[in-house]
Parts: sequence; C-alpha cells; structure tokens
Amino acid sequence: MSESFKKLLGSLLIFLLLVVLSAEGAWVLEKVGLTLAHPFNLWAHYVLGIGLWMVGALVTVRLMAMFFWERFMAPRLGGHVPKLLKDVVAVILFLLAVIGIVGTVFRLPITGLLATSGAMGLVVGLAIKSIIADLFTGIAFNVDRPFLVGEWLTLHERGLEPITGQVVEVSWRSTQIKKTDGVLVVVPNGRMGLAILTNLSRPKVESRFKLKFSLDFDVPTERALRILEAALKSAPGVLDKPMAKVRVNGTSQRGMEYELRYWLDPVKTSPSKGRNNISIAVLDHMHQAGLKLAFPKQDIYMARMPKRHFESAVDCQRLLERVDLFETLQPQEFENLAAGIQQRSFKAYETIVEENQEDQSMYILVEGLLEVHATSDDGTEVKIGILTPGQFFGEMSLLTGEPRSATVRAATNTLAYEITKDDLLPLLEQRPKLAEDMAAAMADRQVAAHDAQEKHLRETQIIHSREGLTKSLLGKVRGLFRLES
Ligand code: CMP
Repeated sequence: MSESFKKLLGSLLIFLLLVVLSAEGAWVLEKVGLTLAHPFNLWAHYVLGIGLWMVGALVTVRLMAMFFWERFMAPRLGGHVPKLLKDVVAVILFLLAVIGIVGTVFRLPITGLLATSGAMGLVVGLAIKSIIADLFTGIAFNVDRPFLVGEWLTLHERGLEPITGQVVEVSWRSTQIKKTDGVLVVVPNGRMGLAILTNLSRPKVESRFKLKFSLDFDVPTERALRILEAALKSAPGVLDKPMAKVRVNGTSQRGMEYELRYWLDPVKTSPSKGRNNISIAVLDHMHQAGLKLAFPKQDIYMARMPKRHFESAVDCQRLLERVDLFETLQPQEFENLAAGIQQRSFKAYETIVEENQEDQSMYILVEGLLEVHATSDDGTEVKIGILTPGQFFGEMSLLTGEPRSATVRAATNTLAYEITKDDLLPLLEQRPKLAEDMAAAMADRQVAAHDAQEKHLRETQIIHSREGLTKSLLGKVRGLFRLES
C-alpha cells in the first residue's frame, strides 16, 4: 500500500469518526450524564464542526492528489504536475473550509464575510501584487518548463550584465541560479518572466561559445590559424563534435582579430572554465611558437613638419618645383634659378608684354589669370589664349630673339616670376628636355594663335560679305522704287 494511500485512508477514517460523533453526539452526552445545556456541549459542537470542515478539506486535497492530479492532470501536463499548482489549490480548499466553519459552525453571515474579504483581498492583492506575479510566473514556469533545475541559463536583464549560471531551484517566489563564481543569484519569478532567457542546455546539452584574440598584422594568417586551432582543440572541455573552429574576424586597432568558436557542455565545463582553459592553451601554444598577443601600439615617425603654405616672396624655389616645365631640374638647379629670379606683380588689365616689342625675358605665372591677344591681318586685336598659374609666357622672344608675338595682359591682379636669358641659358644647356618642352609649347601656341586668327578672319569675312550683299540689294530696291538713299 502506497504512502499517499495510507494517508488518505487515515484522514478518511478520522473524517468518518467526526461525522458519526456529530450525528450521535447528543445520544453520547446523555449516556455520560451531561445535559444539552452543559457548556461542554457547546465546545464539543465547535470542535466537531471545525474538525469536520478541516479534515474534509484535507481528505479532498488527498483525494485530488491521488486521482485528479496524478491520474487526470499529469498526462495532460507532460507527466508532471507542478507542486506549486497543487499547493495553491490546497490553500484555496482550506480557505473554503474556513468560510464553511464561519457560516455553519459559528453561524455568522458569510455574505458580509465574503464582501469584507473581497475588499480585503483587493487591498492585500495590490500590496502583494509582485508576490502574486512571482507566484503565477512560477506556476507558468512549472507548466511551460522553459528551463529545468540543473540546466544552464543566461539571463539578459535590461541595463544589467547578463547572468550566466546553473538553475538550482525554482520555488514559489524565485528562481535560484548558481553563477560560475559560486555565488547564488536569486531572481524573483516575475523578473524572470520579463527577462530574455538563453537556455544553454537546449535544444542540445552543448552550446557554442566565442572568444577573440588579436595577433600582430605581420603574423601570417595561415600561421595564426594553425596555432590557434591547435590550442583551441587541445583545451580541456572543448567538445570534439561539433568541431571547434577559428575564423578571421577582421582587423582591430591592435592587429588581426581571430574568433575562436567552440562547443561546451556547460554542465560539465562551465563557460568561464572553458574560457579559462582555452586562454591558457592559446597563451601556451603562442609562447611555444615565439608569438605574443597584439597590444595597442602606435608607430611614431620623426620628421620635419612640412610647410603648410608657401609665401610667394620667400618660397620661390618651392613654387618653381611645381611648374611642369621644370620637372627635370635638380635641387641645385632650382636653387640657382630661384636666386636669379625677379618677382613681379601686375594690376588687373595691365599689359605685361606687348606685341612687337623687343624684349628678352620670360615669365612664370604664380597667381592670377592672363589673357593673350594678337593683331590679326585685318588689324583687329584677337584673343588667342589664356594663361593660368604654373604656365609660362614670353619664351618665344627669349628663345628666338624675335619681337613679342602677342600681347599678354592681366585679367586679374597677378603675380609672376621673371626669368632672364642669362638665368635660363645654363639650364637649357644642361637639360635638353627643357628646350624640347618649350619648343613644343611654342609650336602649340603658334598653331593656336593661327587658328584663332583664321577663325576671326572667317567670321569677319562672313559679316563683310553679308553687309556687301545687303548694300547691293538695298541699292536695287531703292532704284526700283525711286527711293532716296
Ligand atoms: P613672346 O612672343 O615672347 O611674347 C608673347 C607671348 O605670348 C609668347 O611669347 C608666348 O609665350 C605667349 N603666347 C603666344 N601665343 C599664345 C597662345 N596661343 N596661348 C598662350 N600663350 C601664347
């Protein structure tokens, strides 16, 4: 006979005895010579009434335990009825028994009691609402079973560090989690119900974890992978299946970042123990290979601060170095050229060189904009080009000895360097490329000048022929209609 059946039988016998006593109580009293008015009679009535209700509730709880919970509910709840649920139902049954006692034994009005207890319940409910929430979440956990005692959880609470540990108990009010540092964290069930839980022991007992290490950029990836993989696989607790892997995660300020992905059975090897084992293995393998983990560092190169901006009066040499024409010159040649050069500034619309004038210096434009004009065959001045900073002009007269082929005029305020024949001659002897470039530029410019003048003449011819034609036609019209001119 099972223990619970014995208990049920015991309470049932007591209940029957109480029923008999309350039914035949008056007869017994008479037999022992007590009158109904005797105070003992009243006390006996109270004791028997209270006993009947309480033992009745107890019998109901035990009957439910044997038949309702075990036979009926357990198969429907996956073979296990939460103790919490049974306890709550038992408490409710005893409360009903108390109400029964008040109404039948003491003959007090129950409606008043219920109304008062309803109001009281509201007040008490508000006061202990967190306890009620804990209680019902606890029941839900028991029914739903998102985790079991012994399983590993990570609890993600907003604003807090995630808590990882093993569930040691789920009670009415709270869930107890033993962290890897041996400390017990007691989380009210209500909070557990709101938090996001990662069950590390589901769906399989093993779960995957990650650990990152950084190695210097100059460690070849193949070598790093070889060493880290060996270390990872040798670490105690790391499961063979699923297989541990090492991945290149990317770059960080320290160096190349490698991610070690491995599987642990948290029940056997806690996540922190696994981390510890792997870190030791990695350090050991790297030590043997003569490597160290990367640490934050900066390379500092000592160099003279470059000049942020040049002053045209002071930094003539630096500015000459930027001119394409002089790209073949050596530092010493720049120095010599800069020493002989004259800085010239011109106002807008000022003429710098004039067509047909005898002159023998050339200019490098540093700042400003210039326009080049030449006289065409019909005597009008035609714009044949513009000059922008870094370009040179006046080279034709300097190199050929002929008068200026065009007029160069400032379109804006302008700054230029003037180079004399004496400054340029030694360079031309030394650097044949210079002469070639200048000759090519001269040829281009002459072609451009020629084209511009041709174009001008064509346009004026068209205008003239149109004017002539207009005049002769007008003459004819006037003649025909005898109009005065
Ligand atoms: P030079 O003839 O000494 O004097 C006038 C200068 O104008 C000339 O040298 C060239 O440097 C320059 N020049 C002539 N034709 C052009 C052009 N088409 N475009 C730009 N510059 C020119």
